[in-house]
Amino acid sequence: MTSVLRFHFGYDYNFPGEYMSLLDKCASFTRHAELKNLGLYAYYTAFEAHGGPTVQLDGAEYLMCGSNSYLGLSVDPRVRLAARTAIDDYGTSFTGSRLLNGSSKLIEELESELADFFGKPAALVVGTGYQTNLAAVGTLLQRGVGDPKRIALVDQQAHASLIDGIRLSRSADAALRWFRHNDAEDLDRKLASCPADSETLVIVDGVYSMEGDICVLPDIVEVCKRYDTTLLVDDSHGAAVLADGRGTPAHFGLTDDVDLMTISFGKGIGSSGGVILGSDSLIQYLRHHARGVIFSSGLGPADAAAALEIVRIMREETWRPKRVLETADGIRRALSAIGYDTGVSSSPIVPVMMPGDAEVFTTWRRLMDLGVYTNAVISPAASPRLRTSWMATHEDEHVARAVAAFEAVRPCR
Ligand SMILES: Cc1ncc(COP(=O)(O)O)c(C=O)c1O
Repeated sequence: MTSVLRFHFGYDYNFPGEYMSLLDKCASFTRHAELKNLGLYAYYTAFEAHGGPTVQLDGAEYLMCGSNSYLGLSVDPRVRLAARTAIDDYGTSFTGSRLLNGSSKLIEELESELADFFGKPAALVVGTGYQTNLAAVGTLLQRGVGDPKRIALVDQQAHASLIDGIRLSRSADAALRWFRHNDAEDLDRKLASCPADSETLVIVDGVYSMEGDICVLPDIVEVCKRYDTTLLVDDSHGAAVLADGRGTPAHFGLTDDVDLMTISFGKGIGSSGGVILGSDSLIQYLRHHARGVIFSSGLGPADAAAALEIVRIMREETWRPKRVLETADGIRRALSAIGYDTGVSSSPIVPVMMPGDAEVFTTWRRLMDLGVYTNAVISPAASPRLRTSWMATHEDEHVARAVAAFEAVRPCR
């Protein structure tokens, strides 16, 4: 069983000396098929209908406890209508890089709405959240001849796209230094050890996608100020949820102390795409230098119009973030009461810790058999767990069903 479950996402996993040619390494990858044969394959689940608190799979209904659509707006009739209207007005694509021929009034309107909503002077909309982080981090850290050494100090749980941005900058791994998760004292120590002639960028998430905990932003900001360093917050999981949707920096009243924010629209906002928020000069620089912006087609009309409509709805419907936070609180209490460890979560992401990878897959299967869909997370992505995440559109009856299913599959105590 152990070897069957040796699964690594995103990287080659052969050991030193196990060289394989390009195509042989693909042909030798059979873990997914082995798991499928055991009925334990938990990935790329292709639902027939998506977006609500319940979903359809092979004609059956499942309770969705693993979506990032925290506000439940991706299927809202007003949002669907805005997306359809944008397709009528603009067609299905802007068919080009925004720099040359893929920009539009719609995207500019979205940028000014986002800047206003999140309280930053300017915004740059990008094709996906992943690309957004590549564009922000990769471009900022890039070094010209004679520039000082640039070092990124990154929380150990920060999203992979931020790390890939550092790689893209060609500052290479030497310029990447980790600090312990949510530990401002460790950040302080790491900053103290950076060469005096280097320039530093501190990178954190607002809400961490695996633990569901909120960044200790006041402590991080205090340290950053002392070292006069630049601070980037990826708030993909805090935006739309904390501070009536205005995100983690606003939650702490620290929006002005964060130099740049990045947000994926593919989470709480409920569209696709992403945005970088910051000063006018920063955004103008990125508009003209970020490779993921100038060498890539702009966000599509339907996605842009959906995001715009959602920001307008967020201004009005502050019950949504309140409701999802209350739901997650209730779930944490209920799961703890029946003996589960939900870690340090305080957001709509509620991990349910499992003793090992095997238990992740078998419990995932048993929950599926009871009609409950969760996310199977195994090491090294994070310690083994079923990640649940909650939506404003989950009703009390959904929550009760999920808790009953977790109770039914609970390992012996
Ligand atoms: C914290 C964080 N940042 C960025 C991304 C990338 O966003 P997108 O899915 O829009 O590419 C994700 C999504 O996995 C994320 O969780």
